[in-house]
Amino acid sequence: MDKLVIERSRPLTGTLTVNGAKNSVLPIMAACLLTDEPSVIEHVPMVTDVMTMLDILRQLGVQVAYAGSELRIHPDGFRGYVAPYELVSRMRASICLLGPLLARQGRASVSLPGGCVIGPRPVDLHLKGLQALGASIEIEHGYIMAECGRLKGSRIHLGGDRGSSVLATGNVMMAAALADGVSMIEHAACEPEVVDLADFLVSMGARIEGQGGSTIRVEGVERLHGSSRYRIISDRIEAGTLAMAAAMTGGSVTLEGARSDHLEAVIEKLREAGVQITVEPGRLRVKAADHLRAVNVTSLPYPGFPTDLQAQIMALLCLADGVSVITEKIYPERFLHVPELNRMGAAITREGATAVVKGMGQLSGAQVVASDLRASAALVLAGLAASTQTEVRGLEHLDRGYQNIETQLRQLGAHLVRVPEEQTVAPQPQETVVAQANGVPAPGQRNRRAKRYTRAERKQ
Ligand code: UD1
Repeated sequence: MDKLVIERSRPLTGTLTVNGAKNSVLPIMAACLLTDEPSVIEHVPMVTDVMTMLDILRQLGVQVAYAGSELRIHPDGFRGYVAPYELVSRMRASICLLGPLLARQGRASVSLPGGCVIGPRPVDLHLKGLQALGASIEIEHGYIMAECGRLKGSRIHLGGDRGSSVLATGNVMMAAALADGVSMIEHAACEPEVVDLADFLVSMGARIEGQGGSTIRVEGVERLHGSSRYRIISDRIEAGTLAMAAAMTGGSVTLEGARSDHLEAVIEKLREAGVQITVEPGRLRVKAADHLRAVNVTSLPYPGFPTDLQAQIMALLCLADGVSVITEKIYPERFLHVPELNRMGAAITREGATAVVKGMGQLSGAQVVASDLRASAALVLAGLAASTQTEVRGLEHLDRGYQNIETQLRQLGAHLVRVPEEQTVAPQPQETVVAQANGVPAPGQRNRRAKRYTRAERKQ
């Protein structure tokens, strides 16, 4: 296994283009099964979750071709109906195959995803929604075994104890698109990725209205056609992660393609923390605060602050002045990054679904292990801001959802390298040492006396 070796970063500067949204493309790939015609999807991120979904589609007999960021899916030979444990256990999002398999094949056998380090992730809403459309479902030998004749439109309430469900809304929307009659999905998830899926389905000939709101109307059609060319929205979680990287290193970064309308809660919190964010058509400009301020953050369903950025903003708030309270409303167990950040000098205490972050103004390098996808991003950000070298292990999580994040960060001036587990990398004799000798405060706490880098130094 590889690890990332990260040096304390100079202020990140420059421009990056945000990749396509992983959480959009996965259900959209599943939606391609709803027709026997080919579809072409653009702006697809090259991440391992996409590769896993491609493996599942191939096993189902589907032809796939992937070049650059363009994906062509042709379900010509689509015969299978099984999503096996080996693949589903690698990626929980495979549950979104359930709706399309049922709608096209009349049966589905999808492994239950099983445990997850970020806490329980039940599938009751998926099952309830598909049962309401007429599927009969049993759990046998760890598999969801579902059968149906032609599905029938229905009124479906998809609200759970923790609000709406993104992929359950997607599953029901996909199944309802080929059902007989009208379905009304109430308490639907409003996330931009749900809207993207609905828009993709519409591009295949589906009749869907209300996406983005809490009630979605789907009028079933006899058949759908392929989508000749569909472009995935940009990844709001990647954009948020990169914005925080800039803010944590005292930097100034432009994020091309970032959708400010998808990031309102994130922009608001970063501004509250003192980060300057300028919204321009098609891009965001992020400029670090002179001093980061503590803020309270609660993760909520969209348009609230996303749980998928909770770990990253926690890393940022470790550098702030004052005490921040972070409450996790979607996955109350999603705090495995806390002990790792504490090993880097953070002062975070956790009580149930709440973490109290006492901003220490700085972090120190350590050997840390990522437990899940977004926790791994938080540790990379912490490593950029830490005063000494950091090693992050568990990169298989990072690779599930970030396309070459280390290359992106290097383009902005960061020093980080991926090396095999056993290899060590000598610390860079760079600004880490100089900055400390000059009494420069930690990244995120710039002062006017900070060393000014020459253009040549910035290009290194
Ligand atoms: C999606 C995202 C994931 C994100 C999450 C919440 C994808 C591929 N993944 O996951 O990155 O963190 O939304 O924004 O899009 N729940 C139930 N019963 C169910 C389903 C969910 O109680 O049947 C609960 C979950 O435990 C959780 C909440 O509902 O507390 C939201 O989960 P959900 O929106 O379903 O997450 P996913 O769609 O799996």
